Amino acid sequence: MKHLITLAACAALLTACSPGKPAAPKAGEPKFNTDLPMTEFMGHFVDPAAFMYWKGSGTMIDEQGEHDLSPTTDEGWDVLVTGATMLMEAGNALQLPGRARAPEADWNKYAQMLTDRAIIARAAAEKHDKQAVFDEGGKVYEVCVACHEQFVIQPDIKANGPAKGDPLPTIPDDKKK
Ligand code: HEC
Repeated sequence: MKHLITLAACAALLTACSPGKPAAPKAGEPKFNTDLPMTEFMGHFVDPAAFMYWKGSGTMIDEQGEHDLSPTTDEGWDVLVTGATMLMEAGNALQLPGRARAPEADWNKYAQMLTDRAIIARAAAEKHDKQAVFDEGGKVYEVCVACHEQFVIQPDIKANGPAKGDPLPTIPDDKKK
């Protein structure tokens, strides 16, 4: 009986109850715009944020010898803090309804790892700790690679068959024909 009543209520408010489509938020409720395609979100938010951080760590070797890429001014270190801050929030934004991809448990796990590691990376930059910035920047990179492996590279392999050439990792046994 209870079900019948619910059904009747749904019929009356058809749009609000239609499965899959969340009801439009009422005035004053949170509303998220996730219109940006993932490529734009990555290319114009996540990637620049990561490079703000990575560019200020490690060393570069050229004809003149080895150069420390670490910032030398407070403003320089602040760029790394900003990059890490953006990555922390990117991990949150990746999990918004409409943005997360299936299987969502895995997607959210990588997004949360991005935030968790960016928090540690941020603290390293705030301390101006060169070695920690290098190490933590590497751990952030591992999350990018792990998520891309599952959500970009594997679907690509499935769609296009075995990869040709080297850049892609070897195909797991269960995907081999
Ligand atoms: C939660 C999963 C996830 C994480 C974490 C993630 N990415 Fe991505 N990234 C994707 C997906 C999915 C795409 C492919 C977008 C598509 O094809 O729709 C992508 C694509 C990209 C692209 C290509 C954009 C283009 O224009 O084609 C870049 C660059 C990129 N990611 C950088 C990064 C960097 C740097 C990090 C880590 C700091 C990172 N991503 C972390 C899921 C992720």
